[in-house]
Amino acid sequence: MRVPLIVVVGSSNTDLVIRSARLPRPGQTVLDGEFQIMAGGKGANQAVAAARAGARVTFVANIGRDDFGDASLKRLRREGINTRFVVRSRAAPSGIALICVGENGENLISVARSSNDELTPNHVRAAEAAIRAARCLVAQIEVPLNTVKTAMLLARRHGVPVLLNPAPAKDLPTSLLRLVHFLTPNEVELAHLTGRSGTRKADVIAGARQLLALGAKHVLVTCGARGVCWCNAEAVRWFTPPKVKAIDTVGAGDCFSGVLAASLARGESMDDAIRFAVVAAAISVTRPGAQPSMPSRNEIVSKFHSWH
Ligand code: RIB
Repeated sequence: MRVPLIVVVGSSNTDLVIRSARLPRPGQTVLDGEFQIMAGGKGANQAVAAARAGARVTFVANIGRDDFGDASLKRLRREGINTRFVVRSRAAPSGIALICVGENGENLISVARSSNDELTPNHVRAAEAAIRAARCLVAQIEVPLNTVKTAMLLARRHGVPVLLNPAPAKDLPTSLLRLVHFLTPNEVELAHLTGRSGTRKADVIAGARQLLALGAKHVLVTCGARGVCWCNAEAVRWFTPPKVKAIDTVGAGDCFSGVLAASLARGESMDDAIRFAVVAAAISVTRPGAQPSMPSRNEIVSKFHSWH
């Protein structure tokens, strides 16, 4: 059987990461940091997560013509990702994220989207044949919304399910939410989209139901160490992750979305796909960085079996 194809439309960044014992507060300087340059960007992270989990991935993105962009493209190709629809901006530099990571893996992120902002609907239209051939379209909102919407409309035209990771938190029109099969907000994004701020399980479920009512078919809220809440018209279920020592949570949500898409594209049931993606995300938080922390399919399978 041919390995199922996933098309990811989204951002690619270079993450400039400082890890320190404490996160700085506004106006404060923290001096004990260690610096690393790592591959990131929500779109690229999800593409890498899906590829390592065994999917064939085509990535649609806009990367600058600079050294950061060259390195990003090289890394994506090394992952076996099809970069035919990655365009290179002449005007804008590549996207950059400045990231501070604290002792328990918590983080602060500030992004200059740069070339990501120049990914246009026409760039996506150029990839229509790939979208038509895909088992799943994956998108986030770190690139312009009209570009994301164009991709989702193309997917709908060809009967391809859409997984939208509504990150980073931003208002979304209901016309867009109606096109979503799988919506994967974290708790911050859920609160932003629904106006509900409570963090109890009941609050999460109420928020997820609100998004279902707006048109998403399945809402999967990622709640860190508490696991994932899956809501659809029939049921609500919680999936608890294996216990791990988190050292860096950057990209954990991307890992969940990418691996979920890969598993669903392979034809797994929702139940199995969610459990697999939860295990993958738990592995990813035990290692530094976004893309470098994404586990291979073998690693996920082996953790999955030792845990169940
Ligand atoms: O989701 C994590 C990602 O957000 C980082 O890799 C950073 O680049 C930002 O896009």
